[in-house]
Amino acid sequence: MSVRPSLLEYESRLNRPLMMKIPELQVNERLKHVIFARQFSKVTLQRLFDLADKIRNISQSKPGCDYLTSLLSHKRAMLYFTQQSTRTFLSFMAACQILGMRVNEIRDPSLSSEYKGEDPLDSVRMFSTYFDLIIMRSKIPNFAECCAYLMNDLDHFHMKTVPIVSGGAGADEHPTQALLDIYTIDRLFSFTASPNSPRVDWFNKLKVKYPDLTKGLDGKHYCFCGDIGRGRTVRSLCQLLALYDNITITFVCPDHPKLIPGSDLLSFLSSHRVTVNQTDTLDDVLGKTDLLYMTRIQKEHDSQNDAGSYKEEDMEKCRLNLDRVARMKDFAGILHPFPRNEEIPMDIDRDPRALYFTQARNGMWMRAALIAYLFDVDSRIDAFHQKTFSEYHDYNVGVL
Ligand code: CP
Repeated sequence: MSVRPSLLEYESRLNRPLMMKIPELQVNERLKHVIFARQFSKVTLQRLFDLADKIRNISQSKPGCDYLTSLLSHKRAMLYFTQQSTRTFLSFMAACQILGMRVNEIRDPSLSSEYKGEDPLDSVRMFSTYFDLIIMRSKIPNFAECCAYLMNDLDHFHMKTVPIVSGGAGADEHPTQALLDIYTIDRLFSFTASPNSPRVDWFNKLKVKYPDLTKGLDGKHYCFCGDIGRGRTVRSLCQLLALYDNITITFVCPDHPKLIPGSDLLSFLSSHRVTVNQTDTLDDVLGKTDLLYMTRIQKEHDSQNDAGSYKEEDMEKCRLNLDRVARMKDFAGILHPFPRNEEIPMDIDRDPRALYFTQARNGMWMRAALIAYLFDVDSRIDAFHQKTFSEYHDYNVGVL
C-alpha cells in the first residue's frame, strides 16, 4: 500500500532508532501508548502478570465482577480494526467489558466516511474526541505509531488526546500478543497448581526426571516453528524473551527466503546474548525444547512468485503430529497465536501440553490488566484483591 501524503509528515519520526521513540510513548516511566514490544521492561511485565492474575481471581465472584466493572464505567473505547482479526478484537472487547468500559467499533471502513475519502488520521482524531482509548489494527504500515505521534502533537497544544494501543501492525509487531504469550509462559514455568489439583506436587515430580529443571523463564530453550520471516508474533515475543537470562531460541522453518528469520531479529538476539539456532525440521528439537511456539505460513503476504514455491516435503517437517508431540518433554507447552492451518492437527488439542486455547483466554486477562494499568486503576485492583482474599482467609481459619 502506498504511503498516504498525510503520513509522510511522520516519516522522519518513523525512521528514528527505537530507543529514541520509546520515551515519547510513556509519561513519567508509565506507558502511555502501546506500539512496540520493547516498551515493556521486566518490571512492567511482572506488574502486568500480577495484575492479570488478580483480575482473573477477582472475576471468580459476582461482587468481584461488579467491582471490576465499576472501575472504568465512565470511559469509552474505540476498537478500530480495519484489518481482519478474531482473537485480538474480541479479547480486547471482553477486556474493556470486564473493566466496565463502553465499546464501539469500526471494522469495515467502507461503512465509515473513509469510503468518501476521509483520511484515516482524521478518523482517528475524530475518535479521540468521542472516546478515551483507541485500540487499532490497520493495513497501513506503521499507522498505530503515526497515531501515537498525532496524539502527542495534540497533547502539545493542550488538546484532548487518548492512548493508542496497537492490535498488531504489518509483519513487524504485535505487542499485546507478545504480552499474553509471555504471561502464558510465565504461568507454565511457575509450575503452580491449586491445592486440589492432581498437579499439586508436579514440579517436584518433574525434577526426578528433569533434575536441571528450574522455575521461571530464565535458562529455558524456546522453539519457534513455521513462518518466522513474516511472523509478527514471533518477532515481538522474541524481543520480550531476550529480557531473560541464559535463554536459547531455535527457529524451525523451511529454508525459504520469505520464511527464515530476518537479519535484524538475529542481530537483536545476538546483541542480547541469546543463543540462537536454526533448523528445517521439528525432529531436531522436540526432546530439547521447553516451549514450542507454532505458527502458520502467512500466505496472505505471498507475492505471485511465492505462491507454490513452498515444497510440501519441507512444510511437513514443520508440522506437529501425535508422534512428534509424544517425543516432547512432559511439561513443554505448545503455543500458537492462531488462526492455525495444517501445522497443528486437532487431535493434538487433547494433549495437556497443548495450551493455545488457554493462551487465547489469557489474552483477555492480560489485555484487561494492560487497560487497567493505562488508566491508572491498577492500585485499586491491588487493594480490592488484598481485602477480598485476606478476608476470605480470615473467615475460613479453622474450617479449611
Ligand atoms: N493472534 C491473533 O492476532 O489473532 P487474530 O488475528 O484473530 O486477532
